[in-house]
Amino acid sequence: WQISGPKGSYTSKNIIMDKFIVKGPSKLKGEIAISGSKNAALPILASTILFDKEVIIKNLPRVKDIDTMINLLKSLGSEIKFSKDKKIVKITKKNKHKIFASYSLVRTMRAGILVLGALVTKYQKSVTSLPGGCLIGARPVNYHLNALKKLGMKYEIKKGYIYANTKGKLEGAKIRFSKISVGATENTIIAACLANGITTLRNCAIEPEIVDLINFLKSGGAKIKFVGKRTLKIEGIKSLKSTSYSVMSDRIEAGTFCVAACLTGGNLKINNLYPKVIKTELTLLKKVGAKIKTTKKQIHIIGPKKIKNISNLVTKEYPDFPTDLQAQFMVLLCKAKGKSSITESIFENRFMHVAELRRLGAEIIIKKNKALILGNTSFKAAELMSSDLRASVALVLAAMVAKGSSIINRIYHLDRGYENIENKLRKVGVNIKRIS
Ligand code: UD1
Repeated sequence: WQISGPKGSYTSKNIIMDKFIVKGPSKLKGEIAISGSKNAALPILASTILFDKEVIIKNLPRVKDIDTMINLLKSLGSEIKFSKDKKIVKITKKNKHKIFASYSLVRTMRAGILVLGALVTKYQKSVTSLPGGCLIGARPVNYHLNALKKLGMKYEIKKGYIYANTKGKLEGAKIRFSKISVGATENTIIAACLANGITTLRNCAIEPEIVDLINFLKSGGAKIKFVGKRTLKIEGIKSLKSTSYSVMSDRIEAGTFCVAACLTGGNLKINNLYPKVIKTELTLLKKVGAKIKTTKKQIHIIGPKKIKNISNLVTKEYPDFPTDLQAQFMVLLCKAKGKSSITESIFENRFMHVAELRRLGAEIIIKKNKALILGNTSFKAAELMSSDLRASVALVLAAMVAKGSSIINRIYHLDRGYENIENKLRKVGVNIKRIS
């Protein structure tokens, strides 16, 4: 165990000016191992605040958002020790905990808001920064606050901070989310674990990352069960016991590499993921012409010679098509024979990659939250700018099939959520270089 870890391709010292040079076209061949899921690891790490005893979390991805959450936990009084490769963390509590989640940490990563439910249920008090908006949309936290209020949390918003407290413990309640929200479901599950009595949550998000959070909390003794497709029953307990848990693999990373194989007419074996968590995506890729074979923890995908179009693909909550793969699928559909369309129904402003894809030659028309993709694009290299995490990876995909050398600026967005992406891609035949 050590306090800080070794250097990977991503290091916490990466600076804002890092860029990728990608020389295309490329055809992918070989095997890729999927890393731990960022979106599962973040709520799991936040929920370690509930524990008094040591907790070990395994299979962490080496990405910037995880560092930010770890720094947030440190600032709240958790003691952190990493394994040598930084994929396993041992978290213990110092006697002196804190309840202040600062703007400087929460603003860079919206999942920082997930410490709110944990702090209030554990210590009856918290001062947590509001995360603020981001490029893909306003992303308010009203569903988080409404649900926690129903459990008895009182709060006031002052100078960008949520000042929250409760008299005694939170009290179990019956809550129905007016809209499905991944983060609000997670925050409320975490809070209800240590509340008095029973909490029923209806209209919950049921993303695999939520199930992973539940399984982690159950491994520490929490009493949580699904009593309907989107209904959870949580029986509050006094304390959680020491546990060790391995985070699920990243289904969005796996989906991204499946798209990459398909896009380049490649032949990839994608290891270390249960294919059933990306069933919808694999069905879509079969529809565009990919040949796919799955075994228990592997996907073998062979891209088609001609990519078929898809009309009216709509992003929706799990188990439907994820918004986090919308940009990647758009790149794929640019290469399809014929017109396709994608409707973005989760976020209000998630087409920022479109302007950059146009610079590579894509023809895409945007009408409100619908993108009409004309198809038959022969991408040609250009200099590009990343705007957010998933948009940046879409630019890498497009650059991989574009003729010539593309430069992708501001890849710090990618470092937030993709572990070692350039090494993984290089191993399967992509000509990609990081310039620091
Ligand atoms: C999580 C994922 C993100 C993914 C998203 C949707 C993490 C760390 N992030 O984000 O990668 O794209 O789910 O699958 O797991 N909303 C409100 N008020 C709220 C909460 C949400 O209006 O209090 C809105 C959001 O602005 C958005 C929609 O509801 O339009 C869904 O957001 P939500 O499911 O909460 O996404 P996140 O948890 O932020």
